[in-house]
Amino acid sequence: MKRYILGILWVSTVMISSCYYDNEETLYPQVRTCVTDSMSYAGDILPILDNSCLSCHSAAANQGGVTIEGYTSVKTYVDNDLLLKSIKHESGVSPMPKNADQLDSCTIAKVEAWILQGALNN
Ligand code: HEC
Repeated sequence: MKRYILGILWVSTVMISSCYYDNEETLYPQVRTCVTDSMSYAGDILPILDNSCLSCHSAAANQGGVTIEGYTSVKTYVDNDLLLKSIKHESGVSPMPKNADQLDSCTIAKVEAWILQGALNN
C-alpha cells in the first residue's frame, strides 16, 4: 500500500512538472506556421498598417511626408520598393516602424507575399 501511494505521488509529480514545457510552440511547432497564401489587402495588409504604421502615416499625420492611408497611397510605396525595404530594415531606407521593434517575421512575410501576388486591392 505504501509503495502504491508513493507510486501515485511519483507519477503525479512527473506529470505536473512535465506540464511546465507544455506550450504550443514546443509541442506543436507546425501550429505556428505562417500562412501567406492568397493575401488580401483588406483582410491581411490593412490591419498590419493600421496597427503599426497609420498612427504616423495617415493622411493627417503624414510623418516624414509619407502617407500610406488608402490603397492608392500604399501602392505608391509598394511600387517604389520603400514599403518593403523599410519594414525589412534594408540599408539606405529608414527602418520602420520608427522607434519600435521590427515587425515579426510572419507579418513581414505576409506583406512580401501580398506584393509578390500582385499587391492587389482585394
Ligand atoms: C512613430 C511614427 C512612425 C511609425 C509608427 C511608422 N513610421 Fe514610417 N516614417 C516615420 C518618419 C518620421 C519618417 C521619415 C524618415 C525618418 O524620420 O526616419 C518615416 C518614413 C517612412 C518611409 C520612407 C522611408 C525612406 O527612407 O524614404 C516609409 C516607406 C515608411 N515610413 C513606412 C512605414 C511603415 C510601412 C510603417 C509601419 C510598419 C511605418 N512607417 C511606421 C514615422 C513613423
